[in-house]
Amino acid sequence: MSNETRHLIAGNWKMNGALQEAKDFMDAFGQNPSPDHVEIALMPPFTLLHSMSDRLASMGIMLGAQNVYNEDKGAFTGSICPLMLRDAGCHYVILGHSERRSIIGESNAKIRSKMNASWLHGLEPILCIGETLEQRENGVTNIILAEQLAILKGAPKGAPLTVAYEPVWAIGTGKTASTEQVTETHAFVHQELQRLGHDCRVLYGGSVNPGNAEELMSCPGVEGALVGGASLKADSFMDIVNATVKAVS
Ligand code: 13P
Repeated sequence: MSNETRHLIAGNWKMNGALQEAKDFMDAFGQNPSPDHVEIALMPPFTLLHSMSDRLASMGIMLGAQNVYNEDKGAFTGSICPLMLRDAGCHYVILGHSERRSIIGESNAKIRSKMNASWLHGLEPILCIGETLEQRENGVTNIILAEQLAILKGAPKGAPLTVAYEPVWAIGTGKTASTEQVTETHAFVHQELQRLGHDCRVLYGGSVNPGNAEELMSCPGVEGALVGGASLKADSFMDIVNATVKAVS
């Protein structure tokens, strides 16, 4: 694992949230209750980044984006470049989320070029990887994960990186991987990352909620969570943070 030993609880708001909801969330959430044990980050939509940035920083919460384009500037209508994210106060950027892989058709090669652009401008990618239900049932989970991680070949040593293992079948479905599946898969992911020379923090994602967070965050090799639906409400997101503090302290 990297030097960063704290668990990271990151909220991916996906295509949800307007200004008033963001304000309500921040009013209700308050401060990171245990910064020594847990790092917290939020990835709201692009339109909220600037307006949330200062307030989140004062609450001890890191800011991230859900995507970035792989060029520095120019005629790329509708795209957002890494410098714009830095300008908005982002530290993290989610790359390779399964929704972008499957709905938008993002390839591993495209994801790598977005990673390069992110590193060039000091952003830390949260690289999402995960298998579909069919792939798990066909016993090819590790082959798929190794293919997705192979984009790290030749990446600059020591480049800031977090990986999120999100089984596609667990995203937004209310189904979570069992603790055995999570422990086994995270061990494989860490082993692959080590082989590639990039062992880093590995988060779990997929229907994490206040009821399952403590158990999931206690699994060996799990160093945090990427939370979708349950990060939209301040109370459930805080419950996940508190469950994580309990799991790690
Ligand atoms: P849910 O927590 O809503 O299942 O979403 C997980 C996810 O995709 C986070 O990136």
